[in-house]
Amino acid sequence: MSTTIYYFTGTGNSLKIAKDLKKYLEYTKIVRICKDNNSFEDTGSDKIGFVFPVYFRGLPHMVSQFVENMPVYNSVYYFAVANYGGSAAISFQQLNSILNSKGGSLSATFGIPMPGNMWFMYYPHPKQDFIDRINSQPQETITVATAIHNKINIKIDNIANYPAEEAIYQSFSPNNMDANFWTKSTCNGCGICMKICPANNISILHDRPYWQHHCEYCLSCIHWCPKEAIEYNQDSTNKERYHHPDVKIQELFCKMTNS
Ligand SMILES: Cc1cc2nc3c(=O)[nH]c(=O)nc-3n(C[C@H](O)[C@H](O)[C@H](O)COP(=O)(O)O)c2cc1C
Ligand code: SF4
Ligand code: SF4
Repeated sequence: MSTTIYYFTGTGNSLKIAKDLKKYLEYTKIVRICKDNNSFEDTGSDKIGFVFPVYFRGLPHMVSQFVENMPVYNSVYYFAVANYGGSAAISFQQLNSILNSKGGSLSATFGIPMPGNMWFMYYPHPKQDFIDRINSQPQETITVATAIHNKINIKIDNIANYPAEEAIYQSFSPNNMDANFWTKSTCNGCGICMKICPANNISILHDRPYWQHHCEYCLSCIHWCPKEAIEYNQDSTNKERYHHPDVKIQELFCKMTNS
């Protein structure tokens, strides 16, 4: 009786939730979904979960690709924990339909509101709301862990405006969005952005990051840069950076993220 949790994260919210689930569930392994770490290892777990942020109303592309490539068993209890600034929108339906196409299905879905890390949508954000969300997440995660431990079945809610949500999702085309990143003179070439990028999309060239146009738009590089040297067009100028306070940058180095 064990659990494997696959998580995708940019600013650490999903990792914090995955770590807390591991704390409350017995025999649990957490594995980061990233380009260098996407070969599926059969853990034999009877419970398999996915923890992810909602992007443009749906699943991050790398999460969809990961699930499309993994073996799926109809005997496994699959669960999903979405976290978001607004809502889970159509992400559970998307995940369920990938599992269905492979002979499985989602047994339970959970949503946890977290600080929104996308400044077009959420900034300026009431600071207190960020703090409240960070503070209430551990208790919410205990409730989720209890349901998972008991293998509770939770039906996916219907989405009234699915076509509109789907249209927003279809407009999300992240690969070349990195063309809008640039660095300020405060960049010291430390390479941290390269190490944490889940898409292996950054090289360091002449002491500066160079983006290679297979970006997932997770915003990890821009929010975690210790020098706050990365900008996105002029949209991020003078905007506060965010990452989860209980996650250390080293936990996001892609090659060291199984535990
Ligand atoms: C590209 C992008 C798109 C996003 N789109 C949505 C969205 O459609 N709805 C929503 O509620 N939150 C959206 N968010 C906010 C994230 O889902 C939220 O901040 C999440 O907790 C981040 O998790 P992480 O720290 O694990 O990366 C978006 C964030 C990014 C980076
Ligand atoms: S993390 Fe920041 S300072 Fe370090 S190389 Fe990347 S952009 Fe430059
Ligand atoms: S380049 Fe930046 S935004 Fe794009 S996937 Fe890598 S860390 Fe995320």
